Amino acid sequence: MAEAKVFAFINYKGGVAKTTSAYHIGCWLSYVKNKNVLLIDIDPQTNLTFLCASIEDWESRKLKVGTIATMYKRYLGKKSIDTKKYIWKTPIRLRDGRFHPRLDLVPCDIDLIGEDIGGGQIAGAYPSMEMLKRNAKQFMRDRDFLSKAIDEVRYEYDYVLIDCPPNLYLMTQNALVASDHYIVTAIPDHLSTIGLNILINKVRRLDELAKSAATLAGGDTARGRLAEFGAVLFVRVRIGGLMITNAHANTMEVIRSDLGSDSCFGTYTTELIGYTEAAENSLPVWLHDSVNAGRAREKREYPKIVDELLEKF
Ligand SMILES: Nc1ncnc2c1ncn2[C@@H]1O[C@H](COP(=O)(O)OP(=O)(O)O)[C@@H](O)[C@H]1O
Ligand SMILES: [Mg+2]
Repeated sequence: MAEAKVFAFINYKGGVAKTTSAYHIGCWLSYVKNKNVLLIDIDPQTNLTFLCASIEDWESRKLKVGTIATMYKRYLGKKSIDTKKYIWKTPIRLRDGRFHPRLDLVPCDIDLIGEDIGGGQIAGAYPSMEMLKRNAKQFMRDRDFLSKAIDEVRYEYDYVLIDCPPNLYLMTQNALVASDHYIVTAIPDHLSTIGLNILINKVRRLDELAKSAATLAGGDTARGRLAEFGAVLFVRVRIGGLMITNAHANTMEVIRSDLGSDSCFGTYTTELIGYTEAAENSLPVWLHDSVNAGRAREKREYPKIVDELLEKF
């Protein structure tokens, strides 16, 4: 098998369908496109984990096996991470009792929260050059956990999708180092226009820091770069009648001309209650049986997004 393609879903805002997108894209890639998919939940809010499994199943698994927080502790303790041991094989239970095929999960838990904010051993997520000079190796090590974890299974999956917390702290920076591309999900309201540029610039700045750290550290520089910008995915677009409300349409237009239309998925998701209903049942919209989920299913938004993803990357 070839090496997995790795994507990080990021935005420092919450509620912009990072988790919903990683989940639906992962489900469609595996269920319909027959790809082997690994979802990695690095958000201590554990939303992706609970889209895949019930709280009871997760609790017993956490006790028996552990979660990504356990993996991270092993990494900090300089032990082998043993990714395979922590991967939850086919956690999504379908209504007929079978399990959703070809889709595995690295589950998260709240214990990751304390680990995430500190910026590792060196102060702050964005150290000064002076500080970087003294701590280049540590800077890289602080951000290399997820890459190392994925290395252990890189040839067993076609796609690895990392669902990030709503910030650019250390764990998200790990995801950016571990990924080939990052996807920014965004609701096309007015403020998002400003936010997107800030976000992309921050990632660029982090990329420069990582490159400097790699040069200063001297050794393996392969990791000294972050994921490339993949694309913006517009989500939860509000439809007024049959038309997209003007505000959202205008903002999408502005962002597309600002970043280049290649930089945005052509397909977007619209605001549909079916997504939330299906989520409450730990299923993607096409597998949950309700009128609203049916409406969302018929729109085929994520299937079209997956087609674009396969074409683009
Ligand atoms: N297209 C959509 N229409 C309506 N609700 C949505 C849509 N996409 C996501 N949601 C809902 O919005 C909330 C936030 O989505 P989520 O994926 O958890 O965002 P994030 O991971 O960025 O915080 C969830 O309740 C989710 O079910
Ligand atoms: Mg989320």
